[in-house]
Amino acid sequence: MLPSRFVRPRRRVATLISGGLIGAVVLAVGLTACSTDTGAGVIDTVGTIDFVNPLAIPPLAESTVNADGERVFDLTAESGTTEFTSGVDTDTWGYNGSYLGPTLVAARGEDVRINVANDLREATTVHWHGMSLPAEMDGGPHQMVEPGATWSPNFTIDQPAATLWYHPHPDGKTEHQVEMGLAGLFLVQDDEEAALTLPRTYGVDDIPVVVQDRRFDDDGQFVTDVRGYIGPIGDQLLVNGTLAPYLDVTSEVVRLRLVNGSTSRMYDFGLSDGRSFDLIATDGGLLAEAAPMDGIRLSPGERAEILVQVTPGETVNLQSTPPDLGTSASAATRNAGDDTLDVLELRAAATLSSIGAPSTTLAAMEPLRKADASADRSFTLNGYTINNKLMDMTRIDETVEAGATEVWTVDNAMPLPHNFHVHAVQFQVLRVGTEPPPAELSGWKDTIYLEPGVRYELIMQFAEYTDPDFPYMFHCHMLAHEDAGMMGQFVVVKPGEQAGTPPTAHDARVPQSNLAVGSGPRVLSPAHGH
Ligand code: C2O
Ligand code: CU
Repeated sequence: MLPSRFVRPRRRVATLISGGLIGAVVLAVGLTACSTDTGAGVIDTVGTIDFVNPLAIPPLAESTVNADGERVFDLTAESGTTEFTSGVDTDTWGYNGSYLGPTLVAARGEDVRINVANDLREATTVHWHGMSLPAEMDGGPHQMVEPGATWSPNFTIDQPAATLWYHPHPDGKTEHQVEMGLAGLFLVQDDEEAALTLPRTYGVDDIPVVVQDRRFDDDGQFVTDVRGYIGPIGDQLLVNGTLAPYLDVTSEVVRLRLVNGSTSRMYDFGLSDGRSFDLIATDGGLLAEAAPMDGIRLSPGERAEILVQVTPGETVNLQSTPPDLGTSASAATRNAGDDTLDVLELRAAATLSSIGAPSTTLAAMEPLRKADASADRSFTLNGYTINNKLMDMTRIDETVEAGATEVWTVDNAMPLPHNFHVHAVQFQVLRVGTEPPPAELSGWKDTIYLEPGVRYELIMQFAEYTDPDFPYMFHCHMLAHEDAGMMGQFVVVKPGEQAGTPPTAHDARVPQSNLAVGSGPRVLSPAHGH
């Protein structure tokens, strides 16, 4: 297989948008792209970073098993300060700590319960990104946890081993809360993955790599004033909350669980000497076959597990080179598309342990078949709208039948970057434009970058959880866009059932006052009262 860096030439295409769309695009840009969205210019940090800080590894979350057999975790969202640079305290938020949160681990088939307490001074939610679960447990914008309240969702893990993550999802405030530090990993394990020869000792040869760009003011506080169309653009990287990180590698092969936890920035991750790595998993789990490549583009919310081989005593850096945004050259420059960033220095020990040759045949993956699809839906992203609509907490946009296989066709009608995330389901990519998907889009995905003018055909099978009232979300995962309304709602219903009324009565654009607190009773819309 050809390395992806060579398969994906950088395209600078300004003319992909068909004539009929140009008017709408110009209008949308005029309405929504602020003239100060000029970006940060070209940032190149290669060779400028002293890797002086050992990479922080988020602690594994403690858990207990309760009388009902549920594995119980406790998360408390709290504020604090973090010393990213020694002697400088930055105001931050975290779960059970001052920045990010512990890593939750559970096995397929387990029942889990997470007690989410909110010690912040504002309401928040916790969304289990990538998890298949009932809508009421999903932690979307309808599931606000007020200050001082606790929300205790429970669900059964029913999907393959994967690197999932959790983060806040309050309507209109997600960018800020994630920026402050609220996010963590949720690793799913299963027997299929456990039977393979793969590095899986957490923090030793199996390393979480949550990458976030940030910008600090003179007082060491986060600032988000330098923005592109995509949202805030940072000039420094935090990896698991560590600035200028290095990792002591003690094994011949190290598994990096790359998570783009940034609010807006795209990366193209690779190694500084251009060596290839093996991609073994994407958002929703293992690929069928390990795929050698030398770069992988990840947009906000996307994950990839890669195996990197090192030799004794060497040093090599994980880097991000300019990601192909599929936009014009000038749009790329304004949206962090020309940046080259050192991410993490890997320092191989003089003697390296070995687990033997890693498996290359990984997970059985049944391709979902178009012939089995009972519905086709299309989604066009334009301005901050999806299908010309801004998010409305009171409106259900799509009604899906439980268990249905559907084809969702997604178009980015703008000459600027967007991506697309669907809650509670993992999809397969049928086509990218007129092509079958490349290796990095050949496995389970829940988030996908949308190059302007390219049509993405996704196929997904929904789970059996139904709730006519409580919606799941689909949205652009550039958090500023999501906050601006680039989100819609779908419910999963029993065959023949009609969509009901979302639990929160207020309109998304109106100040929030009438929200369901914690897992208490739903507040139903008086306008539609059940
Ligand atoms: Cu990672 Cu709707 O979110
Ligand atoms: Cu977007």
